[in-house]
Amino acid sequence: MRPQEVIRRKRDRQELGADEIRDFIAGAVDGSVSEGQIGAFLMATWLNGMTTAETTALTLAMRDSGEVIDWRPTGIPHERIIDKHSSGGVGDEKITLIVVPLAAACGVTVPNISARGLDYGPGEVDMLDAVPGYITGPDPERLVRVVAATGGAIIGPTPRIAPADRSLFYIRDVTATVESVPLITGSIMSKKLAMDPAGVVICVGSGSGAFMRTIEDARALARSMTGVAAGAGIASVMLITDLDPVLGTSVGNAVGVAEACDFLAGRHRDPRVLELVLAVVAEMVLMAGLAPDIDSAHALARARLEDGSAAERFDRIVVALGGPEGIVADPGRHLPRAAVVREVHMERAGYLAGMDAREVGLTLVALGGGRRTPDEEIDFSVGITGFARVGERVGPDAPLCTVHARNEAEWADAARRVRAAVRITESAPAPLPSIIRERIAQRPR
Ligand code: URA
Repeated sequence: MRPQEVIRRKRDRQELGADEIRDFIAGAVDGSVSEGQIGAFLMATWLNGMTTAETTALTLAMRDSGEVIDWRPTGIPHERIIDKHSSGGVGDEKITLIVVPLAAACGVTVPNISARGLDYGPGEVDMLDAVPGYITGPDPERLVRVVAATGGAIIGPTPRIAPADRSLFYIRDVTATVESVPLITGSIMSKKLAMDPAGVVICVGSGSGAFMRTIEDARALARSMTGVAAGAGIASVMLITDLDPVLGTSVGNAVGVAEACDFLAGRHRDPRVLELVLAVVAEMVLMAGLAPDIDSAHALARARLEDGSAAERFDRIVVALGGPEGIVADPGRHLPRAAVVREVHMERAGYLAGMDAREVGLTLVALGGGRRTPDEEIDFSVGITGFARVGERVGPDAPLCTVHARNEAEWADAARRVRAAVRITESAPAPLPSIIRERIAQRPR
């Protein structure tokens, strides 16, 4: 295979064969395909798309770039192994840190393989890299041990698990090739299939903070992923979510971990985060056969959140993966803190009516919390907290948010950007609709 021939064929809108895709992906992992060639292939795919057959071949090639986990030696019933994922959006990354321990506390086994930040969307792997000692890239043996002992884990792709996603992700992040149905499908589903689950529940974000801006694009992505899941013989539920405003109150790495800990401990629970978390966990519980219907699954999830079992489970997962004891009780003791932490106010009072959440995500990148080049070191401590909810009053007496920055100049720039990213009205806007816009379910073929 000559990489330039594969790129040329994709550029000229010809359908690639499964063997060409497999060889190209293998080369992207072993280094025989250069970064420039990967970038060109990604852009050609972004521009010209892929057929269903190509998308399936890409996903399977990416899965088979590493190992597929074998759960049989653990004795865990296969039908209990259910993973979750999110297609990405600003503020949505913290959901995984709550869903995994909560679903595990309900009896689901959740070997979650997530992603680091992508373009303007923060990611779980960067968040957990902010936790001292936490290993986001364990070897498969340790992953299996942790999941067998605690019921869950949250890790990223490793040199042995879905390594192709690592190679492609670093380049997609910085080449404006993120928002592509086949590339997102390949990235997400290759990681899910590498964990060999019985089913997956995936949040497909739509709106200004999501990679799929419109409901039509979100549906196309959801259908692409259900198609691949069904072809691979696993069940799937796609929840199309409204990520038009920032989800929850924080955007960033350490600050996102702190919000997840506050949520698990019951110190602060944003209502939209609560709605989404319970909906996702209920779907996972139902899929795992641990409740007879969705209402009982929902009730079980709520009970395990309220009785503290989810919080306790998160602590156990963090310790099992090398992190500190007791993070839920006191996240601030363990997480890095930025040098300048100060509230941002609007000059004129009014109601927060909406925002450009993508711009808020780009503000995090500018603060140093996301990447502009593949190998850029990020600063885990920076971010935004206390973001007002749509419908709340903001102004000189009520902050819009708090910016955590490395220095005064970056704080001032971020404050200017978030002020410009929000819409303020004199009268109260209509209440936000349910965070879940649509549900698409598919049984295995
Ligand atoms: N999450 C992923 O893992 N990959 C994507 O492409 C988008 C979100």
